[in-house]
Amino acid sequence: MQIHQFDAVIVGAGGAGLMAALHASSQVNVAVISKLYPTRSHTGTAQGGIGAALGNIEEDHWEWHAFDTVKGSDYLADQDAVEVLCREAIDVVFELEHMGLPFDRIENGTISQRRFGGHTSNFGEKPVHRACHAADRTGHMILQTLYQQCVKNNVRFFDEFHVIDLVMQASKPAGVIAVELASGELHVFHARAVMIATGGWGRVWQISSNGYTATGEGASMVLRQGLPLEDLEFYQFHPTGLYKMGILITEGVRGEGGILLNGRGERFMERYAPHIKDLAGRDVISRAIYLEIREGRGIDGRDYVYLDVTPETVNKCLATAGEPRRIDRHYVESKLPDILDFCRTYLGIDPVEAPIPVQPTAHYAMGGIPTNANAEVVIDTGNSVLPGLYAAGECACASVHGANRLGTNSLVDLVVFGRRGGQAMAEYCMGANIDALSEDPAGAVQARLDRLRHANGKFRVAELRGRMQQVMSEHVGVFREAQGMQQAIDTIRELKDHYQNDLLLEDRGYVFNSDLMEAWELGSLLDLSEATAVSALARRESRGAHAREDCPDRDDEKWLKHTLIRRADAGELKLDYKPVVITDYQPKERVY
Ligand code: FUM
Repeated sequence: MQIHQFDAVIVGAGGAGLMAALHASSQVNVAVISKLYPTRSHTGTAQGGIGAALGNIEEDHWEWHAFDTVKGSDYLADQDAVEVLCREAIDVVFELEHMGLPFDRIENGTISQRRFGGHTSNFGEKPVHRACHAADRTGHMILQTLYQQCVKNNVRFFDEFHVIDLVMQASKPAGVIAVELASGELHVFHARAVMIATGGWGRVWQISSNGYTATGEGASMVLRQGLPLEDLEFYQFHPTGLYKMGILITEGVRGEGGILLNGRGERFMERYAPHIKDLAGRDVISRAIYLEIREGRGIDGRDYVYLDVTPETVNKCLATAGEPRRIDRHYVESKLPDILDFCRTYLGIDPVEAPIPVQPTAHYAMGGIPTNANAEVVIDTGNSVLPGLYAAGECACASVHGANRLGTNSLVDLVVFGRRGGQAMAEYCMGANIDALSEDPAGAVQARLDRLRHANGKFRVAELRGRMQQVMSEHVGVFREAQGMQQAIDTIRELKDHYQNDLLLEDRGYVFNSDLMEAWELGSLLDLSEATAVSALARRESRGAHAREDCPDRDDEKWLKHTLIRRADAGELKLDYKPVVITDYQPKERVY
């Protein structure tokens, strides 16, 4: 076992981890630990843009962005945190621009912006150009830019080190324990402060836009410590995943004029969101697609619809809407190169000539590790801070997305709260002692991994994972109801029992043991599945992405509150609730 010492340790090298590392590293020494090579982090798959009210193409204000975010959240977002997000979005986009991020430009040289779902001008009046983009690879460009800056700033990277657990001393974080994948050796990273920036857990579901590595270890690590997770029942399904594969087809396609069509060739969003149609909130569109499919109006009666961005269709819609703009092949190819590439590669379809088959895909966790606006982890209904522990990015819940996130706000969240967290961590480290480690800080982790390595039961990881994904997709997906959710909880508990007592691993080695690491990841996915289903069953209303067929209405009187779920000493899950912060916008009916 090797021991390393740093002021600050950051787990995860996506946009939030890198932004935090960059800002912390100007004052303290920082290690970033990632189970991947940093530029393969999932931020790299974010496509359509980062929202900021720059007003480059038309009038815009951060207050309009804040209103859209709160309305999009179905009024569950904390409005003080939303204000921070939308106000600082502008500055942080300029910061990225100054680092050299190659944004697309408009003729006057400023950053190009496109329309995106739920982004409007003048408090809901009409769609606005707010998503700053680098073609359809905005996340990729953010990741590359931040990584280069971190290397320049002497951040130490530990690539392909899989973090297994926090080291806690006297109930405070004192570092993390990781497996070096190349050797199987354990490493202890002893630190004054720890940030968790490990991303989401889309792999709980069958069809997901998330990479295979989005397995939620950061959030489940926190749950194992008896600390709470917030609002897990709100999981976003992006309306347009590539049929059967779930690969993200950016909302930017609709931002550039693409429309959704059912099996009868109808532009069905006109019925569900008459005002802004295909640019409504994601929860609204995902439900509309499901309903069309359920009524037999999928393509050829099957479980998908079309996303049409052919210039012929788009130009017809632009003409009907009275817009002077027209598009052609060159325009689509320059604005959406990756989308065209995915469709041509995986489906043999050219989106300039033919519509793209799409279906909703598990995309983003609105809930996660509760934090305040400085990315400090908070641990109770009164928001008490756990000193030295930070979380940012998708694994965290700064409570800016509420029950449904607006497209582009994930990238804003990463960089705004990554930056604030990095600065707060550095300040904390400069005043904090580093306590001596206990005698055998990695003993319990070693024992747990060895037990898994030698598991000799009858259930393979893939079988348990497949059953978990099937039951979560069927019962805790776009639509839910009590009986199905209870069935999901029962099944997940049965799978957890098999996982504990009857698992089979075949690779008992140490070098790049992916069998072992997949088993470890499955443990996280099962924990998060259970906590998600329990949180969802308890919330007896429909709000944002939590759509219950047995409680179809939003109930502000009883449920305008955040869920906190934690594991009690005896192992059972306990629920608690805390109030939503409302400042400027009283909850209203949400109409698009
Ligand atoms: O549709 C998209 O490009 C996804 C962006 C996001 O999730 O914010």
